[in-house]
This record gives sequence, structure tokens and C-alpha cells, in this order.
Amino acid sequence: MDKNRRRFLKSSLLGSAAVAAGCVPEANTRGEALAETSAPLDILVLGGTGFIGPHMVREALRRGHTVSLFNRGRTDSELFPDLKLYKGDRNNGLQSLAGGKWDAVIDNSGYVPRHVEDSARLLAPAVSHYLYISTISVYDISPAPITEDSPLATMLDETVEEVTAETYGPMKALCEQRALAEVGADRTTVLRPTYICGPGDRTDRYTYWPVRTMRGGEMLWPGTPRDDIQIIDVRDLANFTVDCLEQRIAGIFNTVRPLRSFQMGDLLEDSLAVTGADMTPVWVDKEFIAEHKVAEGNGLPIWEAPDSEYASFTLVDGSRAAAAGLKNRPTRETARDTISWWKTLPESRRENLRAGLSAEKEAEFLRLWQQQKA
Ligand SMILES: NC(=O)c1ccc[n+]([C@@H]2O[C@H](COP(=O)([O-])OP(=O)(O)OC[C@H]3O[C@@H](n4cnc5c(N)ncnc54)[C@H](OP(=O)(O)O)[C@@H]3O)[C@@H](O)[C@H]2O)c1
Repeated sequence: MDKNRRRFLKSSLLGSAAVAAGCVPEANTRGEALAETSAPLDILVLGGTGFIGPHMVREALRRGHTVSLFNRGRTDSELFPDLKLYKGDRNNGLQSLAGGKWDAVIDNSGYVPRHVEDSARLLAPAVSHYLYISTISVYDISPAPITEDSPLATMLDETVEEVTAETYGPMKALCEQRALAEVGADRTTVLRPTYICGPGDRTDRYTYWPVRTMRGGEMLWPGTPRDDIQIIDVRDLANFTVDCLEQRIAGIFNTVRPLRSFQMGDLLEDSLAVTGADMTPVWVDKEFIAEHKVAEGNGLPIWEAPDSEYASFTLVDGSRAAAAGLKNRPTRETARDTISWWKTLPESRRENLRAGLSAEKEAEFLRLWQQQKA
């Protein structure tokens, strides 16, 4: 993998827990509903207690489905006391699942190709439908817009199991391929989300913007209000996930907001509207940002300079998922609910944003910028 892609991934889409699909027949990548079902489903979730898992579990329960979990019982183990837990480790510890039967499985916690291969092989005869949560980080750098047919990232040594900024995307691409090979493209759904945000997000990559806005004063905003960004609200992803299971929708889908439907200026307006803060935006141009490495260390999460070669990761085409039923709520609702959730967190957590510029760094960059402009 080239080192540019590495740099992009370092600051971008690694999931909260960790830091091509060539075998898909043409017809099945179009997202056809295989055989719609409205009957309650028996759903197994691999994971279920991280960030996105609980939203999916709650949505499935809300619609009357039965949900069981498979995990090690380490993360938020008190979250769903009433759900059946199959305890085990994806690393050679799937025994508790042997002999079980479910209608569908949601695989949220697959980062290592061997783990996905093992679970998909074991579950292929035990479920009708396997839904794997992937990421847009599977794509290689290529011209915008990125579609489901854009080239995927690869790695020389496919036996590597350490998840790093460099290996995350190519390993997720391999995970997709293993699930598809074991279960078959006609019974497998692969969802490729962009930045997932909303209540419960542990990365603070989206959260930073409205939360920093709430503090008020002069705030550094990168580039221009017209710079494209992409997110997906975790609840929209959860809804679409359960839709796919209910309607037996197989195929590969970019799960993102529509192309060019959300820009930095919209994020700014949402942030001001939901916080009512007295914040003055200072738009700092991309040349200054590059020269002073302002974005380094996840300093400006979600934003990408429009002329950078990674800009195509902000221009991912989600029309296939939209045609299959993915609905994106207004971004203002995401901002509002993110702030409401944030206010419920303990002070110790709120004092330590996990992405974005620290107050000191931001003040220093703004001072330099204003000096340069004077
Ligand atoms: N966050 C984003 O913006 C983003 C963007 C694109 C894609 N994604 C994808 O979204 C998924 C992350 O979802 P998430 O944040 O809800 O979950 P997560 O934090 O990655 O996974 C946590 C869940 O998996 C279980 N788990 C972890 N390691 C396990 C193991 N070795 N064996 C069995 N269970 C294990 C955890 O429970 P225990 O610890 O108790 O085992 C927990 O239930 C990933 O597939 C990621 O690639 C995320």
C-alpha cells in the first residue's frame, strides 16, 4: 500500500474498536430483494455492544425481531441483560454457536479475514442471510465518485492479522471476500459505511464540530463552506441494516449520504443551530492547513481538502443503497441528538475530546493565521 493512502487512513475511518469482492455475480450487486419477509426474524449479532451494534439491536427489537448476541462479554456487558448471549472469542472461540440456527446474522465485529471466514463457514448452513458491516476504507485511491465497482485496496501479505491504519481497509476488503465466498453472494449483504456518527460515537470525529462550537469564541474551520463531507447517522445505518434483513436484500452497498448533499458550511450551520452558541467561524485556507500541518493527528476530522487525492473519499456514491431503501435523516437531527447525548456523558469524558484540535493548538493556529493575514 502506498504511504499516501496510509496517511489518509490514519486520520480517517478506522473503527472505534481498533484504533475485491471479485466473487460477486453481476446480478447480485444490484441489491435485489430476494424474497420479502415480514415475519419476525431470529437475528444473531456478532458484536452488539460497541457503538453501532446497540443501535441495530434496538431497532431489530423495536420491529419485533428476536436478537441474540455473540461476544466475549467484555464490552458493556450489562447493556442487554435480557438477550441471549453466546459467549466466545472470534479468535478460535466460536464453539458456543455450534448447532444453533438463526434467520440472519449481522457481523459488526469482523476486522480479521480469518475470523470472518471462520464465522461465515460455521454459520453458512445455520442462517439464511449474512450481513457484513464493512467500510468505505476498502477502496483504493481512485477518482471521484467512488462507486461499489471502484478498485479495492489490497495487501501483499494476506495473512497479516494486526489491524493498523495501514491494514484496516485492505483487511476489511478481504473480510468481505471471505464472507461472500463462504455464504454465497445471493445470501450475503455487505454494507460499506463512511464516518458513522450520532449518539454513542466513541471516536468524536463528527462530534468534535458541534461540541467545539458549543464552547463559542473564534473557531477554526478548514477550507471553505463549500467543501464536501460525508457521514451516515448510526440510526439510519441501523434502519437500513434491518431493512436488508427483512427484505432479504443481498449485494454490496455504499452507505453514505447522497453525493454533494452535505458541506462544511452545513455542518457549521447545524452546529450553530443546535447549540445556540456565540461562535465566530474563522475559515482558514487549505494552503495554510497543509503548511502548518493543522490536520495532523486527527486535528480536523471528517474534512479533506477538495484538491487532495483523498477527496474522493468524501464523494462516495450511495445511490445504490438509496434505491434499495436507505434513508438519511436531516443532518440537523444528527447534530441535535449528538449534542443531547454528549451532555449526558460524565465530565471526565467531556473534557477529553478524542478528535479535533485542542483549545491550545487551535488558539496557536488562529494566532498564526491572523498574523499571516495582517
Ligand atoms: N465507526 C465508524 O465510523 C465506522 C465506519 C465504517 C465502518 N465501521 C465498522 O463498524 C464496525 C464497528 O462497530 P462497533 O463500533 O459497534 O463495534 P466494535 O466496537 O467494533 O465491536 C464491538 C463489539 O464486538 C465485540 N467483540 C470485539 N472483539 C471481539 C472478539 N474477538 N470476539 C467476539 N466479540 C468481539 C465486542 O464485545 P466484547 O468486547 O465483549 O467481545 C462488542 O460487542 C466495524 O465493523 C467497523 O469496521 C465503523
